[in-house]
Amino acid sequence: MALKMHSAVQIVGACMLWTSVSSIRYLPNWNSLDTRPIPSWYDDVKIGMYIHWGVFSVPSTYYGEWFWYEWQTSKYKECVQFMNKNYKPDFTYADFAPQLTAEFFDPNQWADLFKAAGVGYTAFVAKHHEGFCNWPSKYSFNWNSMDVGPKRDLLGDLAAAIRARTNIRFGIYHSLFEWYNPLYLEDKMNNYTTQKFVESKVMPEMYEVVNKYKPEYIFSDGDWEADDTYWNSTEFIAWLYNDSPVKDTVVTNDRWGNNSRCIHGGVYACDDKMNPGHLIKRKWENAMTIDKQWAGFRRNAPLSDYLTIEELLAILAETVSCGGNILINIGITHDGLIVPIFEERLRQMGAWLDVNGESIYATRPWSNQNDTLTSGVWYTSKKQGSGLSVYAIIQNWPTGQTLTLGAPVTTSNTVVSLLGYPNTFRWLPASPVGGIVIQMPYIPVSRMPCQWAWVFKFQNLAN
Ligand SMILES: *[C@@H]1O[C@H](CO)[C@@H](O)[C@H](O)[C@H]1NC(C)=O
Ligand SMILES: *[C@@H]1O[C@H](CO)[C@@H](O)[C@H](O)[C@H]1NC(C)=O
Ligand SMILES: *[C@@H]1O[C@H](CO)[C@@H](O)[C@H](O)[C@H]1NC(C)=O
Ligand SMILES: *[C@@H]1O[C@H](CO)[C@@H](O)[C@H](O)[C@H]1NC(C)=O
Repeated sequence: MALKMHSAVQIVGACMLWTSVSSIRYLPNWNSLDTRPIPSWYDDVKIGMYIHWGVFSVPSTYYGEWFWYEWQTSKYKECVQFMNKNYKPDFTYADFAPQLTAEFFDPNQWADLFKAAGVGYTAFVAKHHEGFCNWPSKYSFNWNSMDVGPKRDLLGDLAAAIRARTNIRFGIYHSLFEWYNPLYLEDKMNNYTTQKFVESKVMPEMYEVVNKYKPEYIFSDGDWEADDTYWNSTEFIAWLYNDSPVKDTVVTNDRWGNNSRCIHGGVYACDDKMNPGHLIKRKWENAMTIDKQWAGFRRNAPLSDYLTIEELLAILAETVSCGGNILINIGITHDGLIVPIFEERLRQMGAWLDVNGESIYATRPWSNQNDTLTSGVWYTSKKQGSGLSVYAIIQNWPTGQTLTLGAPVTTSNTVVSLLGYPNTFRWLPASPVGGIVIQMPYIPVSRMPCQWAWVFKFQNLAN
């Protein structure tokens, strides 16, 4: 079991550096690993950038990043017809890899865009279920971005740009299983009584990627066909927490075997697009996508498949209000571009956060998550000075001259303001026991603080 330790203090000149040096040794079992606190940076930054890029970015169509499997195994007709119509009969999935050309990949431009979007960490696909490594892995022969396709260390180049230009924490997505890896299929045939694939591929590559690139976030996935003992998950995580170069700051998730999801590990990611609509005490993550269908870029996705900024901000507000982080996915093209629809959503979100970030970053769930009377209102809170500030993120601008909310309980000192707007608002208690009626002033469109999802701030409430 882990013991709680005090921080060590180093005195350097006039500055005191608090380092969370600890002699905690986690044991390779969930009882021990589950006691590790989630490093605090994660709960403060709230928003992550999820980035899907791989050989699937070449067909870039039906079923997104799942194209290979849905073509070869499910034999879905969209994929089969697409291949029959456009490729020679002997064309294999591996033949797509040379077309992952990445000639427009500009990691500096990506880093600047992510910074403008206001995200605090990344989950860049290091390897998806297809097994293609986006870094030159010693354990991947001819199925990685240095040997074929880009001829470039995509992961390393992005990590370097992000670290050089931003404070964003670089992190990765990594799939444990590989659909068609012969070693994996052999272990599977043996009902996972052998671990050839884990011993010769997964574990070596995971130690390699952590030692070489020091990701501070690891979104594990592709776990669900076998349990944690097959994957050697607890041994790996114990190393990650005890001895790895990122042991003090790394955050991971719960997808480490068919018996760990939503039960063990770091942050609960549970199922994709987790968004429970109520408070969850354990830190959790909504891994979602701007393309409502798939994470891999799809050339033939219609506009209606993309979330609007209003929809994206509503999901952001709901997620943060309920104690979650949001991991927002964009899909990259085969030539390395972030297309304008994704760029627009990210810049819109960043512009919104420039005004309203106070209601998101470093906030904590309030006593209420949504309002009791008015729908589409999500609350967050933050200690400021000796008091608590409460934020109501509203999706719809009131149509009348007042806005009535049920959850806030006022005091005679309650102050109501709108983030990004200079004046405070007049208000009345809605009833003797609680609620508030806010008098909406006349605000010209040109003086509105933002175009979508406005945030009321309450100070000196009774709750
Ligand atoms: C795996 O399990 C199946 C079903 O229980 C069984 O039929 C098969 O013989 C097992 N294979 C091995 C290699 O143990
Ligand atoms: C997997 O875990 C077992 C049991 O703890 C250990 O003996 C083995 O060395 C581990 N293998 C790898 C590749 O980490
Ligand atoms: C979990 O994986 C193990 C193999 O490691 C397998 O025997 C078991 O059936 C799986 N359980 C579920 C619920 O899929
Ligand atoms: C608040 O959320 C709960 C749970 O999702 C829901 O049942 C309720 O209708 C919501 N309240 C309003 C006013 O929308």
